[in-house]
Amino acid sequence: MLEPWGEAQKVADQLKRFVYQWQEDSLARSLPHVLEQLPMKPTVMGMDSPHQTGDHVCYDMLTRGPLYCMTSHFTRVAPNAPVRGMHRHIGAPTLFAITGKGWEWNDGETYNFETFDLLIVPPYTMHQHGGDKEIGCAIYVPETGRIGHLLGLMWREQHKLSEKPTFPQGTEPMYGDEGKLLGYRIKKGVLGITKDIEVLLGPEPNREATFQARRKAGGWAAPVENTYDRYVKMLHEEADFCRKVDHVAHEAKNPWEWTRQGRLKWMVHPDTETATNHAWIYFHEIPAGSRSGKHRHVSEELVLVLEGRGYDIHDGERWEWEQGDLICIPSMTVHQHFNLGDGQALLFNSMPSVYAALGLGGIEQFEDAPEYPER
Ligand SMILES: [Fe+2]
Ligand SMILES: [Fe+2]
Repeated sequence: MLEPWGEAQKVADQLKRFVYQWQEDSLARSLPHVLEQLPMKPTVMGMDSPHQTGDHVCYDMLTRGPLYCMTSHFTRVAPNAPVRGMHRHIGAPTLFAITGKGWEWNDGETYNFETFDLLIVPPYTMHQHGGDKEIGCAIYVPETGRIGHLLGLMWREQHKLSEKPTFPQGTEPMYGDEGKLLGYRIKKGVLGITKDIEVLLGPEPNREATFQARRKAGGWAAPVENTYDRYVKMLHEEADFCRKVDHVAHEAKNPWEWTRQGRLKWMVHPDTETATNHAWIYFHEIPAGSRSGKHRHVSEELVLVLEGRGYDIHDGERWEWEQGDLICIPSMTVHQHFNLGDGQALLFNSMPSVYAALGLGGIEQFEDAPEYPER
């Protein structure tokens, strides 16, 4: 039995609620707010980093950073790298090109991306990406995957492995007739499992049927006669929308805005016309020697430092950062960024949008960015 479930049934609800709350809070408070990146290494997909604030599964929550929902990882495709693996999952991923350029293949369509573009893959869509043969690319993937775990939508399928897969410790490849690679076996002992688990390539029939039906739903022509019909229609509208919408948010097409928080460029938010509304994702530029506004929101926030160095103040506590670091801003924290470098600082911010769906969106502003009133 996995640890969090071991003793739960024996303890009264009103006790375990407060015990778990106290334990989680203590754990979150003990974790650093600025993380150095865990390095990339060869995997079954290609070249990837582990999840920087723990994997999508709830068991990995609060293992590295004080975030409950946001996770992220990095991928690199070197020039002339082997073809990467292909998979799908229910959560809609967003992939940000930090350097280089390349292509993204989604259910038969290919989309090209340049540096600083954001790829937006609709839910349960087969995806595979590759880099430009000459310069390759590096990709940062901010994700809200743990929400999927809470909703019972963790399911993911591997369809192809990398052309040259590296199998992790504790696993072994499985071959069928004529040496065909069928998948891999997770060996007894990994995370305490008492027998091997086979991870077979290809679709799981029930999920395949559900999602094929959603994909194939055509436009809606019938009248909407009652409340129930509105939600039958929704399936058709969602399918239509995913078919038509672009899978790339182009950095060059989005405008910079001077805001009370500073100079921001939004890539995705819940009202943008994209196939994901799981996150707010935006750039934040801070001039040399300057600072952001100071604000607080209920949502947690994960920030990748693209350029520069400086520090944050989170509820009065100082956290230093530099290029490549990940800043974790816990839920309900008053925060402000300060640029200590000679040049601009460029941040790439992601927040889960689910808070807004729960009636917990909105921002309290305590101090405006110094440039804002006189722009
Ligand atoms: Fe993926
Ligand atoms: Fe914020």
